[in-house]
Order: sequence, then structure tokens, then C-alpha cells
Amino acid sequence: MSHYIAPSILSADFNHLKKDIELINDSEADLFHVDVMDGVFVPNISFGFPIIEHVKKISKKPLDVHLMIVQPDRYITEFAKAGADYLTVHYEACTHLQRTIESIKSLGMKAGVALNPHTNINLLEDVLKDVDMVLIMSVNPGFGGQKFIEHTYAKVSALKELLIKTGSAAKIEVDGGVGLNNYRKLVDCGADILVAGNAVFKAENPMETISLLKR
Ligand code: DX5
Ligand code: ZN
Repeated sequence: MSHYIAPSILSADFNHLKKDIELINDSEADLFHVDVMDGVFVPNISFGFPIIEHVKKISKKPLDVHLMIVQPDRYITEFAKAGADYLTVHYEACTHLQRTIESIKSLGMKAGVALNPHTNINLLEDVLKDVDMVLIMSVNPGFGGQKFIEHTYAKVSALKELLIKTGSAAKIEVDGGVGLNNYRKLVDCGADILVAGNAVFKAENPMETISLLKR
């Protein structure tokens, strides 16, 4: 597949959320990236179910929900009901990760696992065949608009090799500080899905920026 672009609505204008969602609907973007933060796993609180349900009603593209929360198992059913198509949990927040992945899939969603910048990809080796996606954080999670961590390129390349070695069909998603200056190199390293928050919503022409990120 050619790579996917997932604009992060965390960077959208919440006074005009409907307008921003419609813009993404009309664009070449592939997914809506939805960042859920609990103020415990990360030092920020974003939004919860009412907003996700609202986005789902208007969205014409699948919802890629990224949970930056502790004990995500408590809410998997609610996220399925709210309309998540992809549900990604953090490796660092799951004691029984394999069970969490199975619960996500049993509710008909695609299951993703996210790794913080300090977490080694090899820790995922035993579950790679079970997951649909691995999300590599290229900033420390919590806020949009942060600086991209350069080590991410090597991490994506190594993950790509590990996926081949283990026979996993999981997609690689990169999240944080992604934009026109680094998207091409990330795709060349093996990234399949690129999240872009500020690069899209703070751009003068978000629609055109999405088209450029797709090339
Ligand atoms: C960061 C979030 C990201 C964020 C990306 O914790 O997980 O998805 O919205 O925003 P940018 O692209 O601005 O770094
Ligand atoms: Zn995210």
C-alpha cells in the first residue's frame, strides 16, 4: 500500500471542529487520528467519549484512536461503542498486553500497540503476529507541536526488519513532529501511517499539505 496520512484532531480548532473534520473528509487523508489523554499516563488531558462520538458522526474516514491512558482495559468496550476503528494502547500502560490486544480485536477493532521513545522494539517480538499496527512515538507523548526525535528513523527501520523476521503483517505508524521535512525519509525507512497534527492544522493550506504528505 502507499502510505497513509492520519491528521491528529488534537491540533484542530475546537471552536470549529465540524469545519476541520469536513476539511479532512474532503482531503486525501486516510484516517482521523484521535488522541485520548488522561492526565496520569501523560501530563495532559485531552477529551473523551462525547467528542469521539461527535467526530464519528461527521467523519467519512476511519477513526484511529490513540489511548495515552493507564488501565486501558477498563474502557475498551466504550471506545468500540464510540466508533473507534483502530484502537492503540501503550506498551508501557499494559501489564497483560496480549489479553488487551485480544479484547480489542474481539470487539471488531484493529489493535495497535504504541511505544514511547525510550521503549525498545524487541519487547514486542512475542506479540507482533497478534497486532495490526505498531505506533512508534517520535516525541514523548502528551502534546502536539513537539520536536521530532531523530532516533526514530533507526527505530522504524529496525522494526520493519523485525516484522519481516517474525512474519508479522502489522503496519508501522509514526506519531509526533511529523511534517513535510521528514515524511519522505520515514516512508523510506518503512513507515506505513504518518500522524500529522500541527503540520496539517497549523499550515496555511491544510488540504494542500495533506496532498504533499501523500506524495
Ligand atoms: C502526542 C500525540 C500526537 C500529536 C501529534 O502526544 O500522540 O498524536 O497530536 O501532533 P504533532 O504532529 O503536532 O506532533
Ligand atoms: Zn497520537
